[in-house]
Amino acid sequence: MRHLMSPLDLSVEELDRLLDLAGDIEKNPDKYAHACDRKKLATAFYEPSTRTRLSFEAAMINLGGSVIGFPSDDVSSAAKGESVADTIRVLSCYADICAMRHPKEGAPMVAASRSKIPVINAGDGGHQHPTQTLTDLLTIKSLKGRLDNLKIGLCGDLKFGRTVHSLINALIRYPGIEFVMISPEELRLPSYMREILDAAGVKYVETERMEDSLGTLDILYMTRVQRERFFNEEDYVRMKDFYILDNEKMAMASEEMLVMHPLPRVNEIAVEVDDDPRAVYFQQAQYGVYVRMALILTLLEIEV
Ligand code: CP
Repeated sequence: MRHLMSPLDLSVEELDRLLDLAGDIEKNPDKYAHACDRKKLATAFYEPSTRTRLSFEAAMINLGGSVIGFPSDDVSSAAKGESVADTIRVLSCYADICAMRHPKEGAPMVAASRSKIPVINAGDGGHQHPTQTLTDLLTIKSLKGRLDNLKIGLCGDLKFGRTVHSLINALIRYPGIEFVMISPEELRLPSYMREILDAAGVKYVETERMEDSLGTLDILYMTRVQRERFFNEEDYVRMKDFYILDNEKMAMASEEMLVMHPLPRVNEIAVEVDDDPRAVYFQQAQYGVYVRMALILTLLEIEV
């Protein structure tokens, strides 16, 4: 039985197979419509979510399965003090696979160690968000045609942004990847992530200014400042509007540069940018359904 805690749980070959499967699902949805008949997905979400939870639900329903679960800890027995370890043992009796989001780093891993069904990390604190990474990789592969030889700007909250940490882990395994880390000093990429980049020999620069690199990027990956991870509101308010991508800044970028964002967006991308054909963040959310369908099939070892 396999779980997914980090993108590194999948080899590059497995990742490529999974993305190919997601591509086939996009083109031939009817072929997969009964692949998970009588299977159940449990969504155990201890933290708010729109995309991850609902795209997992849509994915399982598209595969012919059904969904049970809870959308927040206050409507589950976690509110009465039940541990994650006990909860997953119970969910193992009710469902075939579980997607879990938790504010504490490592909580889905604790669940996986006690589970009788595959557990998918749907985001754990500021640590990892592997299914967002699968979504991002499918978006890049589908729209750019490759996952190698790309210059990617990661902009915003690189300290707490788990989507960024997972994406870096996944992309450094492909050749010719280069990063521009755009963040205020206080929201700089954590040292353990910089060590990973250094150990892999990946080229990257760190800067506070978005404008300087815009013209050179293949992809600009914007992120929200993670309010829920700040210790005080004052620091959040000071940081929250540090970067705002608008049409004036988009004019500095190449015609081929894609703007991605895991969403939710707050102020970091002006609404006027949504009409720019290079803004692909809503398309990205759609790719999340195909790739989660492919992941469910892979972890349940269902071949169609
Ligand atoms: N991208 C993402 O994880 O969005 P949600 O928090 O809405 O699931």
